[in-house]
Amino acid sequence: MVEKDADSMRETLAGLADGLACPRCRLVLAWRDDRGRCSRCERFVPALGGTLPNFTDAEDASAAAILALPDGAIGRAVRAVQALRAGESPLPEDLAKLQEFRIVDASGALTAMGRAVSYHVAEFRRQAEGGAPARLLELLRENGLGPGSRILDVGGGAGQTLRRMGPVPGGERVCLDLDLTTLAFGRRWASDEGEDVRFVAATAHELPFRDARFSHVICRVGLNYMHQATALAEMVRVLEPGGVLCLTTEGPGFDLGLIARSRGPRELAGRLVDAAYGSLLGLTGRQPAPGGRSHCGRSFSTAGRLRRQLRRLRCDVLRLAATRRRVGLPVGFECLAVRRDGGPPGKA
Ligand SMILES: C[S@@+](CC[C@H](N)C(=O)[O-])C[C@H]1O[C@@H](n2cnc3c(N)ncnc32)[C@H](O)[C@@H]1O
Repeated sequence: MVEKDADSMRETLAGLADGLACPRCRLVLAWRDDRGRCSRCERFVPALGGTLPNFTDAEDASAAAILALPDGAIGRAVRAVQALRAGESPLPEDLAKLQEFRIVDASGALTAMGRAVSYHVAEFRRQAEGGAPARLLELLRENGLGPGSRILDVGGGAGQTLRRMGPVPGGERVCLDLDLTTLAFGRRWASDEGEDVRFVAATAHELPFRDARFSHVICRVGLNYMHQATALAEMVRVLEPGGVLCLTTEGPGFDLGLIARSRGPRELAGRLVDAAYGSLLGLTGRQPAPGGRSHCGRSFSTAGRLRRQLRRLRCDVLRLAATRRRVGLPVGFECLAVRRDGGPPGKA
């Protein structure tokens, strides 16, 4: 590891390390150099590139390459991804970099991983320019978000929503996601721009933090992709008593919009299947059990089920409403809940 990486690893883990716990044993990990270890199960947790604690058991060469980028390179990659999204040609040297990180393939088209990075770059821009998170941030600020807040964003991608919040003096912003490339991208992007956001790779189904670690937990359009009962129980577990949970989810009305905008029969068929599967899981409330890295199928929830689940987890639901409706179907839900007391949260 080069000296710069060692320094930035210490910086990344400073403060975070004491709250990083073995997701199974719940014991705080003993952290040494660029790896952590659970004293009970001996689970070993590497910090990818010396800076990104990785609880996913996955390896990702592109993520490691992104973390090792020289200063300033990420800005070029962001510009190149934006040019590709706009249907323009990026500069040849920028395109070569994207090929090296496997964000685009040899023909210059975005790879599956590249589409994920591209989504987060576009979301970052959209959120920085206002967009949907403005309302979410307003809700959080009305509910105690401010200096000293410890905020976890579950399924936070490249940290776009946390960065939109701006600095939190005396507090911390932690972005957790499953996707190593996106996290690596977000980590380098944030640190190049002097933003104090910490990044952790793990599944929402086993959050690698000690109980009551955070004052605010947010999950913006991530819950649909997770095993909802498991992820909700974990989010409440890491929330301190009186802490605030803020969720937004997609509803079937969102898919109606996607279906209407489909380009061609293949895309239309794929979106119809997604919507039908998500609705079936949503209506029955049954999702496949989460495996280590399982996405459990994208699923909708209903306001009633979400409310019941949060109540069972000893939360007071302050707000739960459809954001808008399309042909009578909710496009999404916005939910704000407070963890009630210090007792152990139940099952969702
Ligand atoms: C639709 S994106 C939303 C990203 C971000 N919250 C935003 O507002 O732009 C959903 C995110 O959830 C992440 N995700 C899906 N399943 C997950 C899981 N089980 N654990 C952690 N993150 C997960 C995906 O990798 C993706 O980054």
